[in-house]
Amino acid sequence: KIGLETSLLGKEIVYYDEVESTNSIAKELAGKYPEGTIVIAETQKKGRGRMGSDWLSLPGGIWFSVILKPSIPLEYVAKMTLVAGLAVTKAMRDLGVDARIKWPNDVLINGKKVCGILTEVDAEVEQVEHVILGIGINANVRLNEFREDIKENSTSIEAELGEPIDRISFIKDLLFQLEQEYIKFKTQQFSNVVSEWISLSDTIGKKVTVTTPTKITEGKAVGITDRGALLILTDNNVKEEIIAGRCRYIK
Ligand code: BTN
Repeated sequence: KIGLETSLLGKEIVYYDEVESTNSIAKELAGKYPEGTIVIAETQKKGRGRMGSDWLSLPGGIWFSVILKPSIPLEYVAKMTLVAGLAVTKAMRDLGVDARIKWPNDVLINGKKVCGILTEVDAEVEQVEHVILGIGINANVRLNEFREDIKENSTSIEAELGEPIDRISFIKDLLFQLEQEYIKFKTQQFSNVVSEWISLSDTIGKKVTVTTPTKITEGKAVGITDRGALLILTDNNVKEEIIAGRCRYIK
């Protein structure tokens, strides 16, 4: 027991030294384990990223998945992603680093990615059965161990702070923050999540290109809607809402 300050998250913790992907295991366990169960591993052999990419998961990082059972319509899942990004960002700021959120859910320090979030759902007829929040944090990993293709745009908490962190106390704070934001989401206080998300955002105010499977939208990121979508003001002065996609900044 690590002295958690939560009442829901981490009631059950399933730990592995090495797995293929904690998200895959969490999906398998979701039916049998209670809401709030954490699946965590020291390393992942097949860590998964968004849009089918792989995710490098070296020892020293924090690789875990949270099983949630919010009973929400499928369209609310985008909000859960913002909830998770905000919680990670707040926990990192508690360590004294200037973490900010890049829409939809990358956490950056000094413009470099330190955390990625992969939200996966099991849904039946537009109603969510469970949500798996997969959170990957480059905590105590060395930048020189990163692959060439991610080295340039990625960082770790250790590299930014100049010393390794105590992962257990960080995870404790992170689960506490996540539970607080999740409660706000469940009790109709999502607008509070949105306003805090915006205040810690790296994206709002920037010129972006957002790619979805069906279109590419270019313009200035101007806000987040109450359904959790990114609001873009295009060059033709049209406002477009995008619920999910890949975001690139335009220099
Ligand atoms: C991204 O592409 O930015 C999302 C990366 C998500 C990685 C985490 S690590 C724990 C969990 N298990 C996985 O296989 N992926 C997520």
